[in-house]
Amino acid sequence: MKRILIVGAGGQIGSELISLLRKLYGNSNVVGADVRECKDLGQDGPFVVLNALDAQSYGYTVNKYRIDTIFNLVALLSAVGEKDPQLAWNINMGALMNSLDVARQYECKLFTPSSIGAFGPQSPKDRTPQDTIMRPTTIYGVCKVTGELLSDYYHLRYGVDTRSVRFPGIISNVTMPGGGTTDYAVEIYYDAVKDKKFVCPVSPNVYMDMMYMPDALNACVQLMEADPARLKHRNGFNITAMSFTPEIIAAEIRKHIPEFEIAYEIDPTKESIARSWPNSLDDTCAREEWGWSPKWTLTDTTEDMLYVIGKKYEQGLF
Ligand code: SER
Repeated sequence: MKRILIVGAGGQIGSELISLLRKLYGNSNVVGADVRECKDLGQDGPFVVLNALDAQSYGYTVNKYRIDTIFNLVALLSAVGEKDPQLAWNINMGALMNSLDVARQYECKLFTPSSIGAFGPQSPKDRTPQDTIMRPTTIYGVCKVTGELLSDYYHLRYGVDTRSVRFPGIISNVTMPGGGTTDYAVEIYYDAVKDKKFVCPVSPNVYMDMMYMPDALNACVQLMEADPARLKHRNGFNITAMSFTPEIIAAEIRKHIPEFEIAYEIDPTKESIARSWPNSLDDTCAREEWGWSPKWTLTDTTEDMLYVIGKKYEQGLF
């Protein structure tokens, strides 16, 4: 990776990945792109407004900046996808197809996140294996499985260096996620700091995999830097750092804010999506093939999230 383009740089992952990559590879070598103007991202390095569905502008940008690696982070997430499945398909698959074609044309490496959402109710629930039955029941999951297959196909057929991980819910404190089923695990910290209570949209006992942002960013870099000769899989690797229920995260928060309360107002869409996903993934292949090893547990994540969000609240930032 020498000249990098992040498409969807204004989102939850992109807005933090861009800072890390600029630190590692040099500010001028990491171009941010988003469908909206993002003033902050243009301060330290190049930024372009780019609609990933516009193949011509996408190719123009890759050519202009002599890009060799693309991170395609464009996505409509699981819960919001169910409101307009056709739109979710058009955005998620349109951005991926253009990324694959541009990567093929300009000989770029391509990273596209897959998700725990690629699994479905028939997948084994606990320690869900790398290679197993998928059959997701959301349009988001259908896009992710299709995306994994298409990315493998472009590798086999055209030799494009496509790589991907199946991300769990990502906990972070810079840019809010939007429209995902795992978003509650971010929102709970903000509400805990501000109101000392949280109304949770999924049931107290539903397990989902999660990960703190620093581990997610390291996964992106580590996988893209991995020796391709070691990769038996490509799209996408199971990775996880922790698995918990709303009850468990609430208990962890209470260790810092004893008066914290959690109530439940179940959102039927999020609830049924959460129940269709694994409780926990088996990430052995990622560990063996490219050295995946997460650092952050729920305990340290909670301590850090409450500290950072507490500071933001004191400064009147939300
Ligand atoms: N965070 C995503 C969602 O909840 C899962 O990949 O939709």
